[in-house]
Amino acid sequence: MSAERSEVTARDCWPRHVAIVMDGNGRWAQRQSLPRTAGHREGAKAVRRVVQACSERGIEVLTLFAFSSENWGRPRREIEVLMSLFLTTLRAEIRRLDNANIRLRFIGDPNAFSATLQDYIAKAQRRTAANTGLTLVIAANYGGRWDIAQAARRATEEVAAGRLQPADITPELLQRFVCLADVPEPDLFIRTAGELRISNFLLWQMAYTELYFTDRLWPDFDVDDLETACAAFAGRQRRFGLTNEQTARQDDA
Ligand code: FPP
Repeated sequence: MSAERSEVTARDCWPRHVAIVMDGNGRWAQRQSLPRTAGHREGAKAVRRVVQACSERGIEVLTLFAFSSENWGRPRREIEVLMSLFLTTLRAEIRRLDNANIRLRFIGDPNAFSATLQDYIAKAQRRTAANTGLTLVIAANYGGRWDIAQAARRATEEVAAGRLQPADITPELLQRFVCLADVPEPDLFIRTAGELRISNFLLWQMAYTELYFTDRLWPDFDVDDLETACAAFAGRQRRFGLTNEQTARQDDA
């Protein structure tokens, strides 16, 4: 195989969309005898590393689970630190993201955030909306069940307005109303810190996503870990409900 051909094959195997549950900040801090919040601050550094690596490698979409609908149950001080970290990181990074042609998007219900954070999120999205490089999606106050429920609610509103019939509500129709309907579905899901759960992340969107779990704690996750996860993904055979033989025929075509 020529060098050029093998490069094309390797590139073809890269995931277009990577979705990550960044777990283990608390455990990282505990191991260093630091408060949990120090783990989140270190986690923000790992975010910067991974965003840069995805952007440089031509990955189209990176979705990070920054704050789940369930995280509001954490101690008040931890929530305050996380909110302040989101704002300071956004303020510190927005110019760099914009210069790197990265489009920033948020999914989730922003209404529970402070007015300042909501304004800044809106501003950051507007500023980077026309960028054509990596789409960086931050899932904040997001839950997969919330997402499906809001899609169902919007479809029902169309029925109430007479623009749709109940029989029109199919998976294909609901797909148009869930978050991230306009980008490829996640190819690769990564969860750090050894937990083998999806935890109410992109439940609808991950129907055929390849799952990858690592014991590495999120603050320690680096570019080599990302490469290892992508290499594992490249070795998977994706069948999308078809048989081995059908998938092999598609690969040969
Ligand atoms: C889970 O670890 C992590 C979170 C709930 C917060 C993730 C936030 C960051 C990485 C901070 C920066 C993010 C952005 C987008 C700027 P955990 O606290 O549940 O860890 P544990 O399971 O070890 O306790």
